[in-house]
Amino acid sequence: MATYRIAVVPGDGIGHEVMAEALKVLKAVESAFSGLTFTCQEYPAGAKCCQEAGTDLPETTLQACKAADAILFGAAGLPAVRLPDGTEIRPQIKLRKLLDLYAGVRPIKRYVGVPPTLAGDPAIDYVIMRENTEGLFASDGGGARVGDHVVVDSMVITRPGTERIVRWAFKLATQRKGAPADGVRRVTCVDKANIFQSMAFFRQIFYEVAKDFPAVQAEHAYVDAMTMYMVQRPLRYDVMVCENMFGDIISDLGAGTVGGLGVAPSGDIGDTYGLFQPSHGTAPDIAGKGIANPVAQILSARMMLEWLAETKSDPQLIPAAQAIERAVERTLMDRKNHTADIGGSAKTAAVGDTVAAGIRKG
Ligand code: NAI
Ligand code: MG
Repeated sequence: MATYRIAVVPGDGIGHEVMAEALKVLKAVESAFSGLTFTCQEYPAGAKCCQEAGTDLPETTLQACKAADAILFGAAGLPAVRLPDGTEIRPQIKLRKLLDLYAGVRPIKRYVGVPPTLAGDPAIDYVIMRENTEGLFASDGGGARVGDHVVVDSMVITRPGTERIVRWAFKLATQRKGAPADGVRRVTCVDKANIFQSMAFFRQIFYEVAKDFPAVQAEHAYVDAMTMYMVQRPLRYDVMVCENMFGDIISDLGAGTVGGLGVAPSGDIGDTYGLFQPSHGTAPDIAGKGIANPVAQILSARMMLEWLAETKSDPQLIPAAQAIERAVERTLMDRKNHTADIGGSAKTAAVGDTVAAGIRKG
């Protein structure tokens, strides 16, 4: 019998709506796998929390995240809630830094039931590894502002920061089955090494680390060209690794090629802590209507179980994670379970109910 403590941070907007469905699915997992229990405790963070409590990330929430076995996060922020410097509150970025969640793991996978975005309906299946703690986001809350006319944000690339994310990417490639087009295990460094010293350094370290993984093909591409390749030949890719800002941008593009943000999960993982959240934000345009797609949040819970299986050396969590994957696959095969973002009219709660009802052992 294993009990895992999950710190649940729904955040703002649709964060609450999609989180409710992921929790339903975890309950169904508990029922199907008698040896597993999840103690899910909810904590505030985000824009509304900032308005009510004066902080977007209360100390109690931070401590609870540290004390838990894993963190399940929704989405945070509302465009109208801004800091004096003009930017938005962003507790998720604070957590990445405070908990050193340096690996942004963003699977881009095409589920067969989702209406295709790209012509030819390619079987896209790769992972974007986004460096999560430095790069252009290192300026977060810093940078430099000189009076009313100069503002600078700087790109910070460090050797240890780059080595650890690149190493993670190569390790991941050794565990996957390779690119869909040719089965070749491949890591693609996505950079802008033609223009920026910081990016030339990132690429240099990429090839240094690649030497330790001779069974994996190492290659590079410029980020601008990559946005075209991701649309024109997505089957070439297996694992990509990139700086923080590029990862932020290309992971939304990747999500767009497989049905959109509503089906794109992510993990923010470090050596000690793991936080799992959909790649999307709080979607103020549809919040409160009960029409958000909960699949990305549910698949993020699935990633959480996989990570727990590894960090807690608990093999029963692997079939539990697979049960969620299968239930999502089956749910998406039926168009009546499609929410508006993927062309249907299903409600958030109905999709969660169907996935939860589909959870089976084996
Ligand atoms: P967004 O991801 O919230 O929405 C972009 C578009 O995708 C919208 O049209 C939205 O309706 C749609 N969408 C997103 N998730 C969906 C879902 N599950 N089902 C159906 N449709 C979905 O990004 P946006 O509009 O740029 O940002 C809104 C707020 O969210 C901002 O305050 C932003 O700062 C915050 N944000 C927070 C993130 C986080 O907590 N990790 C990530 C991105 C944005
Ligand atoms: Mg983003």
